[in-house]
Amino acid sequence: MYKILLFITLNLFATFNCDRECGLENIICKNNSKYRSIDGSCNNLQNPNWGTKYSLYDRILNPKYGDGVHSFPKAISGKNLPNSRKISTTIYKQGMTETISKISLSTMQYGQIVTHDMSFTYLPPNSIPCCTTNLKMLDKKEVPKVCASIEIPNDDPVYSYINATCMRMVRTITNNERACSQSLKYDEQLSEVNSYLDLSIIYGQTYKDHKTLRTFINGTLLVDIRNNREWLPSSVKSLCTGNFNTAERCYRSGDPRTNQNPQLTVIMTLWVRNHNNIAKNLQKMNPHWDDGRTFEEARRINIAEHQFISYYELLPLYLGREELVKKKILYNTDEFVNDYDQNMRPHIYNEHAHSAFRQFHSLITGKLSVYNPDGFSYDSILLRDNYNRPESLEQYKLFDGLIRGLSMQPQMESDIYYDPDVTQCAFLHAFKFNVDIKAIDIQRARDHGLASYNDMRSYCGIKRAKNFTDFLDVMDRDKLDFLLSLYEKPDDVDLIVGGSLENNIKDTLAGPTFLCILYKQFYKTRRSDRFWFENEASGLTLKQLKEIRKFSISKLFCDNGNNITLMQKHGFLPVSERNPRYRCKSINGPNLHWWKE
Ligand code: HEM
Ligand SMILES: *[C@@H]1O[C@H](CO)[C@@H](O)[C@H](O)[C@H]1NC(C)=O
Ligand SMILES: *[C@@H]1O[C@H](CO)[C@@H](O)[C@H](O)[C@H]1NC(C)=O
Ligand SMILES: *[C@@H]1O[C@H](CO)[C@@H](O)[C@H](O)[C@H]1NC(C)=O
Ligand SMILES: *[C@@H]1O[C@H](CO)[C@@H](O)[C@H](O)[C@H]1NC(C)=O
Ligand SMILES: *[C@@H]1O[C@H](CO)[C@@H](O)[C@H](O)[C@H]1NC(C)=O
Repeated sequence: MYKILLFITLNLFATFNCDRECGLENIICKNNSKYRSIDGSCNNLQNPNWGTKYSLYDRILNPKYGDGVHSFPKAISGKNLPNSRKISTTIYKQGMTETISKISLSTMQYGQIVTHDMSFTYLPPNSIPCCTTNLKMLDKKEVPKVCASIEIPNDDPVYSYINATCMRMVRTITNNERACSQSLKYDEQLSEVNSYLDLSIIYGQTYKDHKTLRTFINGTLLVDIRNNREWLPSSVKSLCTGNFNTAERCYRSGDPRTNQNPQLTVIMTLWVRNHNNIAKNLQKMNPHWDDGRTFEEARRINIAEHQFISYYELLPLYLGREELVKKKILYNTDEFVNDYDQNMRPHIYNEHAHSAFRQFHSLITGKLSVYNPDGFSYDSILLRDNYNRPESLEQYKLFDGLIRGLSMQPQMESDIYYDPDVTQCAFLHAFKFNVDIKAIDIQRARDHGLASYNDMRSYCGIKRAKNFTDFLDVMDRDKLDFLLSLYEKPDDVDLIVGGSLENNIKDTLAGPTFLCILYKQFYKTRRSDRFWFENEASGLTLKQLKEIRKFSISKLFCDNGNNITLMQKHGFLPVSERNPRYRCKSINGPNLHWWKE
């Protein structure tokens, strides 16, 4: 009797568990839904959980785990690869902090919004100790399996002064740990957010989260009103871990990273206000609409505006407009595009999230200038003091001052120079210790076992290097010298390191190998989305679509700041003779009368 029961149980396990694809479970689709689901489920009708929370990252190339399955990649010689922190201090030095760039800080900041909307490594809890409390490496026997902390060299230019030898890092959770997609031959990491570019950062990743973000009245999102302005709802303290002043405010929204840095929180707030403005206007025009209808229509418009800004305004500055059109990532058209491909997976490439797109951490600046209405910078706040500390945003003038800063402050270059607030002064409050985001990026890429730089070169149609000098086809001698000083063999070079040393291609912010990955990802992200705003099936009429295409980052700033009255038309580019400031009233935007029923 027991034997039979056991047999049946095991059998059920076999059918339901072993072949279950990672992502949310037990999804039932309404095939004819007019609106995209909150959690991304049923976007692909054949594979309803594709792109939902806990989905896998995809991979362009097979991994190179040391043991083929799970452990960190090794050098060809069998030795460990060069230390991640050592690479960071050797190559990614503090550079010019004031740089004349033809692009505004908003370009960097909106890039982070796009990233957060697409993926987030699913990590074990912060409470697991991976260093001793005085920042030393744990005894080998005591190290929890999920730890992969970076051992800081004794001669470290920064941390040796505080005698720290351990930088905390935990490994990303994989398919094996969640018992899904178990037929894979090696570890694949999971993302904690849905893959679609759908503003899930403000609407939530699951229905359960989502419900806590809505008012259920007239289609609006929940906000706190203070000083007659809408702010993100306050959160329990845990989202701003380590805030030393526990009385400080911290926000909640659809993404766990909402409070990470002030300018990020500014843009999240603008999108929530934008949703509520749209909902109010729709409700006024269509008083017979109930909360659900108003909410979904406002959400559809908000997401379409976000997709439009991301692809048509932002991506050209990172990846070059001509090439984007040639690669069918952008279209020169007034019509629908209808390029949905139901066989294309929405999942984010591991090489994209954990090497290519992270290149743009180089754009971050530690000094956030605050501008007055006349367009002059009168103050600044430092990133290092404001990680996970958004409270100061509610000072009435600061919020608008930072918005003007986004649109006017020049952005740093995409190069090997990093702001010390990234490589030395990050997250002091959160970790009681400054981390080096660049060193962690390198360590993370190894945690995920990413293919080597040389493998990716040859995949991308650049010649596979037989010796180091072959790398000179895409990088300068001084960059090659860094590699020679750190690595034994050309095949040892990490993708995230080699790619970052390539010369940028004209009109873009990256070299050929990273560009190859980025084009591939952004192509996939639009074509795998059945509700992509330019797809007729997304539910917008052609007249409505034409209105969406009038939106801009400047309009987002104008409509949703506290009291922004002047703005240049191209808000990702600094003010200049060719991009002068106008009254906000004269900056064009979508006319919602096509939504009147
Ligand atoms: C002030 C600005 C920013 C800060 C403080 C920041 C910080 C971080 C940190 C701490 C991580 C996680 C590191 C890890 O444990 O693996 C991360 C991940 C990442 N960042 Fe940033 N970042 C910023 C801006 C950007 C920008 C501008 C981009 C791209 C345009 C970007 C792209 C990414 C990507 C692709 C990831 C991996 C996402 C994933 O988990 O799938 N970040 N960033
Ligand atoms: C939805 O569509 C899929 C694929 O076309 C089909 O397998 C499924 O049975 C449909 N579900 C419902 C509830 O109609
Ligand atoms: C670091 O260690 C050295 C030698 O043990 C000691 O003299 C110094 O005071 C320590 N510094 C700090 C900041 O703990
Ligand atoms: C909802 O909208 C209606 C008009 O369409 C308005 O009369 C009502 O006051 C609104 N409710 C709230 C709570 O704003
Ligand atoms: C490196 O390899 C290339 C062929 O890939 C060869 O032409 C060149 O002479 C080699 N250089 C050195 C220094 O060995
Ligand atoms: C908004 O800004 C304008 C121009 O800077 C100013 O004249 C006006 O007093 C401001 N309004 C409020 C409510 O602060």
